Amino acid sequence: MRATPLALKHIHPARMFSVMPALAHNTTTPPTTTAPRHPRVLVTGQLGSGLVKELRSMYGRDNVVASDIRKASDDLMTSGPFVYADVMNYNMLERIVVDWRIDWIVHYSALLSAVAEKNPALALSVNMTGFQNVLELAKVHRLRIYSPSTIGAFGPSTPKNNTPDLTIMRPNTIYGITKLHMELLGEYYREKFSVDFRSARYPGILSADTPPGGGTTDYAVDIFHHAIRHGHYNCFLAKDTRLPMMYLNDCIRGTIDHLVHPTPLPQSVYNLAAVSFTPEELTKEIQKHLPHFTISYPDPAHPDFRQAIADSWPASLDDSHARRDFGWKEEFGLENMVKTMLDKIQAQVDAEKAAANHPDSPTKAAMAA
Ligand SMILES: NC(=O)c1ccc[n+]([C@@H]2O[C@H](COP(=O)([O-])OP(=O)(O)OC[C@H]3O[C@@H](n4cnc5c(N)ncnc54)[C@H](O)[C@@H]3O)[C@@H](O)[C@H]2O)c1
Repeated sequence: MRATPLALKHIHPARMFSVMPALAHNTTTPPTTTAPRHPRVLVTGQLGSGLVKELRSMYGRDNVVASDIRKASDDLMTSGPFVYADVMNYNMLERIVVDWRIDWIVHYSALLSAVAEKNPALALSVNMTGFQNVLELAKVHRLRIYSPSTIGAFGPSTPKNNTPDLTIMRPNTIYGITKLHMELLGEYYREKFSVDFRSARYPGILSADTPPGGGTTDYAVDIFHHAIRHGHYNCFLAKDTRLPMMYLNDCIRGTIDHLVHPTPLPQSVYNLAAVSFTPEELTKEIQKHLPHFTISYPDPAHPDFRQAIADSWPASLDDSHARRDFGWKEEFGLENMVKTMLDKIQAQVDAEKAAANHPDSPTKAAMAA
């Protein structure tokens, strides 16, 4: 996360609401004043956790309700409200919207590409029914809705380089199909019911703190952990597979700028890009810091199943409309992203070692016994 909250520059009067201030944690206390207030946001899923923290620093802890069907980290739990919410259950979601008087939903819950490919039926339910529920709630309760799409919504017939916002989209993965369904349905609700639907096609997202969620770009996170812990990485993609990527802090900043933009934007869905690289280029950048790091690639005769997915995606995106319409600009290129990832993961490893060597550590006690 950025050292200073992204926050205050974003608090434009147009984003304030003329109702009440924050509700107390886990209560449904009725309104006590008519002073302008911040929007109340429900976030589903947990790529969201950094976003939740930023939104809480902007709008107050109790105005941002995090949710998932999995337990939250201590960090997320203690920084504000967290509720169980199964996105496939409309009534459960509606109850949260009503109880917490939600204004905006940031909808992150989804099954990612590799996981979806292994369980298409579940991916259809979570990604399509889940989104339809959120969209219908947005219509009924007049909510703003932000739901990320992905480079996976493109397909093998899409132009591969500098792919524009509007182009051929014939995805051949279940993940891509569900995300294209999301884009089109969101646009339909925007046109037909004036739902304020916003979406950006994320590239692969890199974070030192969040474990990869089963996507095809996961190699670009795993590689750092293996480089530091083992000095070697078995990459599941070919060395020349070029994919668009982004550091998580940039993704959060771009998402918030898009989400809070005070007026409706000309498009519902935007490409969002930062940097594109291959496993080989990433390896060379890591080797500048860890010269002994080595990598191996799959036998081309026996590619991993994720290679076909990666080959169907663009190598780079044209995101000029996002830059024009809501001021998108990345801060992390390949060099500072690699340095930041290595520094953060090294700090995690050092902390683990220090904890293991502490006299009260169970590992230390077991070795002494
Ligand atoms: N991580 C990336 O590189 C990337 C790239 C492009 C787009 N995206 C999009 O960003 C969003 C978040 O991705 P992520 O990396 O955090 O994925 P993730 O797999 O880490 O998290 C998805 C979350 O959805 C939750 N979930 C699953 N089923 C659910 C249900 N029935 N009800 C409620 N929650 C449920 C999971 O518990 C999980 O916390 C997704 O919409 C994804 O498509 C991510």
